[in-house]
Amino acid sequence: MIITIDGPSGTGKSTVAREVAARLQFTFFDTGAMYRSFAWKIVHDGIDPANQEKVIDALSSFHFEISFDQERAYFVNDREVTEEIRTREISMIASQIATYPEVRNHMVKLQRKFGRSCHAVFEGRDMGTIVFPDADLKIFLTAKPTVRAERRYKELINKYPDNEPLAIHQIQEELNLRDKNDTTRSISPLKAAPDAIVIDTSDSTIDEVVEKIIRLKPKTQSRFSTMKFIYWLVYSLARGFFKLFYRLKIYGEKHIQKGAGLLIANHTSFYDPPILSISCNEEVHFLARESLFKVPLLGKLIRALNTHPVTRESADINALRQMIRLLSEDKKLIIFPEGARSKTGKLHHFKPGFSFIAKKTKATIYPAFIEGAYEAWPSNKKFPSLFGKVTCVFGSPILWEEFEHLPKDEIEKHVIERCMHAIEDLKLWLEKGAQGMPP
Ligand code: DC
Repeated sequence: MIITIDGPSGTGKSTVAREVAARLQFTFFDTGAMYRSFAWKIVHDGIDPANQEKVIDALSSFHFEISFDQERAYFVNDREVTEEIRTREISMIASQIATYPEVRNHMVKLQRKFGRSCHAVFEGRDMGTIVFPDADLKIFLTAKPTVRAERRYKELINKYPDNEPLAIHQIQEELNLRDKNDTTRSISPLKAAPDAIVIDTSDSTIDEVVEKIIRLKPKTQSRFSTMKFIYWLVYSLARGFFKLFYRLKIYGEKHIQKGAGLLIANHTSFYDPPILSISCNEEVHFLARESLFKVPLLGKLIRALNTHPVTRESADINALRQMIRLLSEDKKLIIFPEGARSKTGKLHHFKPGFSFIAKKTKATIYPAFIEGAYEAWPSNKKFPSLFGKVTCVFGSPILWEEFEHLPKDEIEKHVIERCMHAIEDLKLWLEKGAQGMPP
């Protein structure tokens, strides 16, 4: 589950978000710290923050890490920067470099990557609008400008008691300037998402705001409660069958998030569609030739598992339309981009159909690798062997933003290459002993 808390500084955002995360036992992500850490690097490398080109170049050597031990610590290229990123100078530079689209794209990718692996509270400026538009709960905090300036004043005095205190009007001016940067930048400006709940914190205590957010948190649903009964029944039976006879093992299910998605995998066996669908912990959809629906038991089974028939005469156009419709309804769709089952068990070059769908719908792509299905039921055998070992590995989502900057006519080629590599990487990860989360 993801909760986003956005808003300008001085609204109590960080304290509230940290406390909400602690009370819910979620991981807390302060995304401002990422922009600040990058700003620190810019200063450290002696780069002029106004030199956009140099700043963007520096992204390639920016390695950011968070240590989640008792005290949160931030590292840039192995150097701890936790304290140093909180200065006024860094605040101003962070706000300036955060207006550069390449910097934002880079941070958005990092943030989504962090968000994939755990229940989390993300605090920032564009969490609900851009980074996690499907977040389970979106909060936008505001406060009167005078209250915000006063809070910042107290914070600075507490943090740096030895420094000459700034006049409150000076703090107000700095806040105004950062607000201007944050709200007027052309890319992902600071604003509340249309479905965010706006809370004015001017006259509330931290505790009151935290309580309110916790009350608003949606109840977690078990994966079964979201499935229709017939799907759940066939899903559970098929899962039991594959666990019993084929020792089915699943990795990386946590990579799969809410919303539209294209699940793509290698295809070597009749077993691939059921293996992929039962490995996913929500309902998925796929298309199949109409003739398959005429096979007595199989027809009923695959219909129950959300298979949609494609007629032969108008196969291509009909299939494309159906796929686009399913994705626009936020469904998950399985596609085997090789087009047909591989006769050798090896990965074949992908056909462009799925990349066209990806381009058209901008759906997230989930690469998956299925191992053992070929041995269990190769394409040249009429019947499967009754025992074996099958594994399904889901990799990190491939987000549409990765391709957005490319020339239009090159996008599909890049999508295909990226997806083929992703599946090969999953195979490699499995061969190397399946340590940690799949890539
Ligand atoms: O929340 P903060 O003051 O630590 O953030 C520092 C700067 O980083 C802020 O001026 C704007 C930028 N920022 C952003 O643009 N998007 C985010 N999600 C978080 C911070």
